[in-house]
Amino acid sequence: MNSFTGQHILSVNQFDREAVEKVFSVADNMTPYAARHKRTTVLEGAILGNLFFEPSTRTRVSFGTAFNLLGGEVRETTGMSNSALAKGESLYDTARVLSGYSDVIAMRHPDIGSVAEFAQGSRVPVINGGDGANEHPTQALLDLYTIAKERQSFGQPIDGLHIAMIGDLKFGRTVHSLATMLSLFSNIKFTLVSPKDLGMPSKVCDVITSAGHELVISDNFEGLSEADICYQTRIQEERFESQEMANQYRGKFRLNQKIYTQHFKSQTVIMHPLPRDSRAEANELDNDLNIHPNLAIFRQTDNGVLVRMALFALILGVAHKVQDFDRAVHWYTNKHQN
Ligand code: CP
Repeated sequence: MNSFTGQHILSVNQFDREAVEKVFSVADNMTPYAARHKRTTVLEGAILGNLFFEPSTRTRVSFGTAFNLLGGEVRETTGMSNSALAKGESLYDTARVLSGYSDVIAMRHPDIGSVAEFAQGSRVPVINGGDGANEHPTQALLDLYTIAKERQSFGQPIDGLHIAMIGDLKFGRTVHSLATMLSLFSNIKFTLVSPKDLGMPSKVCDVITSAGHELVISDNFEGLSEADICYQTRIQEERFESQEMANQYRGKFRLNQKIYTQHFKSQTVIMHPLPRDSRAEANELDNDLNIHPNLAIFRQTDNGVLVRMALFALILGVAHKVQDFDRAVHWYTNKHQN
């Protein structure tokens, strides 16, 4: 991608390594605004259409927060039943209408390819906030940004990383997007741990192997002692035909303090795109790891704001003007300091 200005962000396949590093560099510059040390009004007057036709907490709210932190305003619709899609309106018509009200649109939809279809009708840039079991490109960017930061704290680059991806790799769109984006880097070892029926799609495995990376496929926690990142995922029960079918995988790859200590080295960083399923029987990422210093899940969510601010600034062509429109803030900000 040569320039972000005016572009849709629909797939990680649009990115080369240079484009990823450009987003990270702009995201770094957003730190004082996300930490509320300063505010900027560089997007004053701009409107984000935030359209979430599938449940979301952090993607929807962090897109809105990121836009507000740049001085723009947010108009939202949430849930299919609250929109005219429920009356049979096409994605094309919805896109024509809502792009007349917005300068940029973020969208999540349960169907694979739906956000790309919507973008064809849109008169403004569209960002994919997750299309069914397919992709979640901004999650991949924030995950990779988090990995870069965690690695920096050990004085290491992304290159040479060993990542273990664990859980529902079939329906988990975050791992599809992250594995593809990580494949832009050098000498990555992927260990993919899942039940046999929930393995990584072959098209993603092909991306990994054709880029020359090492790929190990497993259905247990053996051989993970040298993993730098443990990326845990939720069983995507909403993508199964029945609750019973999803339930058979519950708790299979439980990670808690004891299992973590038994199978991973002391520096292994624990990540999860969230939400984690904290109901009884799910047990995918236990609360007894909540205060572990290697648990990066809330650093991921904080980084989501930086990365989404960077994307908005790049897409709307103001990344170099953010500081020209900033000033100090006067309220209490201690809670935003890590
Ligand atoms: N990680 C993620 O997509 O979270 P939400 O479903 O809450 O947006």
